Parts: sequence; structure tokens; C-alpha cells
Amino acid sequence: MIVIQYKLFGKKVEPRGSKVNSLIFDNIYNGRRVLVTGHTGFKGSWLTTWLVKLGAKVIGVSKDIPTQPSMFEVLNLSSQIQHIQADIRDLAEVKKIIDNVQPEFVFHLAAQAIVSVSYNNPVETIMTNVLGTLNILESLRTLKEQCVTVLITSDKCYDNVEWVWGYRETDQLGGKDVYSGSKASAELVIKCYLHSFFQNEHPVRLAIGRAGNVIGGGDWARDRIIADCMRAWSTNNSVEIRSPQSTRPWQHVLEPLSGYLLLGQALEQSPRLHGEAFNFGPRTEQNHTVLELLNELGKNWMHKNNTNIYRITGDIPFHESSLLKLNCDKSLFHLKWESNLDYSETVKLVGDWYDAYYRKKTDMYALTLEQINIYERLGIERDRIWSKSS
Ligand SMILES: NC(=O)c1ccc[n+]([C@@H]2O[C@H](COP(=O)([O-])OP(=O)(O)OC[C@H]3O[C@@H](n4cnc5c(N)ncnc54)[C@H](O)[C@@H]3O)[C@@H](O)[C@H]2O)c1
Repeated sequence: MIVIQYKLFGKKVEPRGSKVNSLIFDNIYNGRRVLVTGHTGFKGSWLTTWLVKLGAKVIGVSKDIPTQPSMFEVLNLSSQIQHIQADIRDLAEVKKIIDNVQPEFVFHLAAQAIVSVSYNNPVETIMTNVLGTLNILESLRTLKEQCVTVLITSDKCYDNVEWVWGYRETDQLGGKDVYSGSKASAELVIKCYLHSFFQNEHPVRLAIGRAGNVIGGGDWARDRIIADCMRAWSTNNSVEIRSPQSTRPWQHVLEPLSGYLLLGQALEQSPRLHGEAFNFGPRTEQNHTVLELLNELGKNWMHKNNTNIYRITGDIPFHESSLLKLNCDKSLFHLKWESNLDYSETVKLVGDWYDAYYRKKTDMYALTLEQINIYERLGIERDRIWSKSS
């Protein structure tokens, strides 16, 4: 493996490669069979890399490689895990995989995850997000050994009543667009399976993770601001933006992933949280406008002066609900989960990743591992619960 010296946040950070740090998540994933659906996607690729680093035996299930380029391919993750190509809409196929694998943990991320696509392909979106989740649950129903399952939905599962307060886990589910409705419907399917089947002595322990939009290196999905920027800037073009003054809570992808992994750990160690849903959102000071983010990234990434890095268009091709804030008190109270990075650290990690990919031609697996190392070490410094042994 190529060893890189990575300077971040003014400090020299010593590379540690892929050695397992036994304090992180209480070493619970080391040597365990972990099934990740959607492992070829943006979040799935980061989660897979982190789990491999934690010593897990990862089995990934995805329908395809959803983008070109793709983080999954750039990192050559198929060489580190058991990579299975399958469609979660096919119950027989999902059943066969789960029966064969007998997973100890499942992280279900596979989804049609793009709001704009859900307008063009509503049936595929609902079939994937609702029936796909149903097929996972139905396949888990016959397991005989304990299996901890974390199901990933979205902040968009809440009925967005456009209020200024953060949404709590007990707030009403809803969703006016197809993607949001599909995520709310998936939650209802989970709830009825929970109450009908996963009770008493049943070996499946499950919980739901809800997070909002995240940013990070390796995202090339459609209609996502960072991916749009990098596609444009890497070919010396300016990026088109629609709502420059929109404020968004910019959260690094590792933040909700630390929440999902912590939730898996908590469920494994105690049945107390079985059936619960948890929000994993950023702190309020992470809120910045799209323009502020682009200026910061442009500076950090490749543009000496920030002229012509974006063009503002008035074209809004689909309805997307306004900012929806998550209240994360429940995650803090029950899991002691807090986000780990501030805004400038978040933007720097994102900028450095694409800079390394497009301009420095770095070993991207080593660099991604190093960014996870940095995240873990900041967690240790900041006393995050997942970074120390219980
Ligand atoms: N990225 C975000 O900002 C964000 C925000 C909130 C929630 N989420 C949720 O997190 C999860 C992961 O999101 P992402 O951004 O990594 O998505 P992505 O679009 O990058 O990846 C989607 C993954 O799902 C797989 N997939 C799609 N349809 C499938 C099918 N029928 N069968 C099997 N696999 C299928 C794809 O192959 C891919 O691996 C999704 O559930 C998404 O709704 C993402």
C-alpha cells in the first residue's frame, strides 16, 4: 500500500494504514459478517471502506455501479469484499443471499436515492425503496441466529410542514414528492414487520437511521451540488446553480455513518433500542449558503481566483421541499452521538479528496483510509463515544 503523509488542519497526521484500532466502535465489527446493501453507491462505498478498516468481512449487494466514475471502482473495493450483483426487488434472490450469508449485521442502504430521478421513474423508485426494504425484512424473518440490522431511510421521510424547528423521531411521517413518500412508506413497512414478526425471542434486532444530504469525496450522483461542481470544474467549466442563497446544513458523509455504526454497536450490546429510529444531523453552525460553500471549495480546490466558477440559472426543474432540520436530541441522549467535524474541516476533506483524484492522481484507497483515520483521531481527541471502549 502506498503510504501518504497527510497534512490536515495545520497538523501533521501520521499515516496508520488499515490497522484495526480496537477502541473504535468497541471493536465490535472485527471479524464479523456484515452485509451492506447499496455498497457500490456513495454512502455505501464509504461505509464499506470503513467496515473493512474495522476488520469486518463485508458482503455487498447492489444492482449496479450507479455512476461513472464511481468511488467503488476508483477504490477497487471489489477486491476487498464479497461483491454480489443483485436486485433487491427480487425476493427470491434476496432470500437466497441472506440464507447463504447468514449475516451478523445488515446495513440496508440500497435505494433509488435521487429526488429528481423519482419524478421520472416513480414506479422504480417506489418498488426499490419500499418493496426492496420489504424483501430485506422478509428474508431476515427466517434467520435463526442474532442479526443486528440498521435500515437507512432519510430525513425526507418526515411530513415537511415547513416549520423552523427540528423534526423529532416522533413527528409525523409523510412526503409530497415520490422519493420522500417512498422513504416514509418504507418506514411503515419496517414498523409493521417489527410489531408482527421481530418480537420476543426473534433473533433480529433492528433500528432505523435517518439523515439528510451529505457531502464527501467520491460522490458523482446526478443533481447533487458537489458532484455537479467537480464534473464541471474538472473540465474547466463553470457549474450551473439554481438557488445560490439556499442555506443547507453541510454534513460530511462520515458523520451519519458514525451514527449508523454506533447504532449497530448499541443494538448488538443491548436490546434496549430495538425498533427505534434515530436522527443523525449536523450542528446548526454547519448551515451555509450554496454560494459560500462553492467559494470555499473553489478556493480550496483548484481556482486561484473564484471568477466564473458558477453560473446562476433560474431553472428549477422539480419541486424539492425547503430546508428540513433534524432534531438529534434522541441520538445524543440514548447513543451519546454527536457530529465530529466543523464546517471548515468538512469542506477541506471534500476538497482534498477531489483534488487528489483529479489533479494529484493519488492512490485513492490510501487517501480515503487516511481521511477515515483523521476522522477517527479527531473523534478520539474530542471524546466521541464511538472512539473509546465501553
Ligand atoms: N446521499 C445523501 O445525501 C442521502 C441523504 C439522505 C438519505 N440517503 C439514503 O442513504 C442511502 C444511500 O444513499 P447514496 O447517496 O449512497 O445513494 P447512491 O445513489 O449513491 O447509491 C445507491 C445504491 O443502491 C443500489 N441500488 C439501487 N437500486 C437497487 C436495487 N433495485 N437493488 C439493489 N441495489 C440497488 C445502487 O446500485 C447503489 O449501490 C439511500 O437509502 C439514500 O436514500 C442518502
